[in-house]
Amino acid sequence: MKKAVIITGTDVKGCTYHIKEAFLQGLGGAYEVSEFSLPKDMPHFCCGCKVCFFDSEHRCPHAKSVMPIWNALLEADLLVFAAPVYVMRVPGQMKALLDHFGCHWMVHRPDPAMFTKRAAILTQSVGAPNGRAQKDIATSLSWMGVSSIKRLGFGLMEGVIWDELSTERRRKITAKTEKFAKRFIGAKPARQSLKTRALFFVAKQLHKNILKKEETPGADNRHWIAQGWLKEKNG
Ligand SMILES: Cc1cc2nc3c(=O)[nH]c(=O)nc-3n(C[C@H](O)[C@H](O)[C@H](O)COP(=O)(O)O)c2cc1C
Repeated sequence: MKKAVIITGTDVKGCTYHIKEAFLQGLGGAYEVSEFSLPKDMPHFCCGCKVCFFDSEHRCPHAKSVMPIWNALLEADLLVFAAPVYVMRVPGQMKALLDHFGCHWMVHRPDPAMFTKRAAILTQSVGAPNGRAQKDIATSLSWMGVSSIKRLGFGLMEGVIWDELSTERRRKITAKTEKFAKRFIGAKPARQSLKTRALFFVAKQLHKNILKKEETPGADNRHWIAQGWLKEKNG
């Protein structure tokens, strides 16, 4: 059975939660789902130690929280991010998680498992445009090598408490979200997009140039060599 991982950017069982639940309803059991909620499941800010870049993500001081989420992303076919819009952007807790994945960007150590995944971004605000918040997530996913990223955003318009929204508004949001989720039922692995190929090409040139200057390859280039993307200097 295909797998999905859902990361919800708030622990509140409010509007984001109900939209996420509607998405799950729409998937109709087509995926085995694992879920994480923020900040509960990853309550740390990146402390800037850079150990993930220079050595290994396993040595991150927050690895205990980050690695289960990263491993779930690697195992999943479908990555779902659900978040409210906070001051026109993604909530800090979601950004804090994404910061911890910086070492998996193309310019560091991308995981080839990411290249065929599909992603869905669900957002809502009272009325502000959702685009910038969605982009915060999409940018990270693109740089990690995800080619297919679909987005759905809502303006609640009537308030911020789910139960206080009109029945008609809740029905529309739920129906639209369920319909959106159904697009992922039976979806094949994504084909690498032109954008992802271009990012990979740029990153490869960068790593090649760094390798020329390195006496011994650093963590990033050891990864590129191990993946067969770069040749060892004397190999
Ligand atoms: C700290 C904070 C900042 C917010 N900023 C915005 C905003 O800039 N524009 C907007 O339209 N809604 C804003 N909202 C409303 C949320 O996007 C969302 O609609 C609301 O929190 C309900 O979702 P929830 O029940 O999942 O928390 C904000 C909410 C919070 C708590």
